[in-house]
Amino acid sequence: MANLHILDHPLIQNKLTRLRNIATNNHNFRLLLEELTALMVYEITRDYPLREVEVVTPLERTIGKVLDVPIVLVPILRAGTGMLGSVLNLIPTAKVGHIGLYRDPKTLKPIEYYSKLPAELEDAQVIIVDPMLATGGSAVAAVDLIKKEGGKKIQFLCLVAAPEGAEALVQAHPDIPIYTAALDRRLNEHGYILPGLGDAGDRIFGT
Ligand code: PRP
Ligand code: URA
Repeated sequence: MANLHILDHPLIQNKLTRLRNIATNNHNFRLLLEELTALMVYEITRDYPLREVEVVTPLERTIGKVLDVPIVLVPILRAGTGMLGSVLNLIPTAKVGHIGLYRDPKTLKPIEYYSKLPAELEDAQVIIVDPMLATGGSAVAAVDLIKKEGGKKIQFLCLVAAPEGAEALVQAHPDIPIYTAALDRRLNEHGYILPGLGDAGDRIFGT
């Protein structure tokens, strides 16, 4: 899959392994998820455009570079909000949209319950964040919504993807690059990723 990028930096893989571990408690799970997200965001923003600006140092005037694209972060509720803070720490000027989706446990289809996106999505670089890409239903629905509101440049960032979900997202939106720390084996009969890391929302929020 041309548009699927597995980020295999050793620090990313090391943190992912600790995140997967059932012995990792909620507190450490949240910290690891934030650290892992920051490392991945560092990788996926490396081609963002820059523009030159003048800056005055304590010694002299010089030319520096700043980001030259408005950035919109869109966490998919709930679990995506666990990744939001660490992206905002790195890109404090980003605007934030929210998309509320949950999977119907029987059909595994996404049910939308909330959506609020910033205006002027057309020119923005949008990063959707959600730890898990399982059947792909939530990701496809989130991209549908963002495109409907005018979003054009969209990246999808997750921590663990199932082949089924990656395939579904590539089929529905071949223009969207997908970034993940791991492409796992498959889904189980309840739509959970194997080996995965369990229910991301439950492990973040202790539910
Ligand atoms: C999880 C996860 C994704 C979705 C992935 O959320 O955070 O949003 O499942 O599954 P899919 O690819 O099959 O759509 P969940 O629906 O459990 O809601 P939560 O974040 O509120 O726990
Ligand atoms: N959502 C999760 O949180 N975990 C999975 O394995 C699949 C969907």
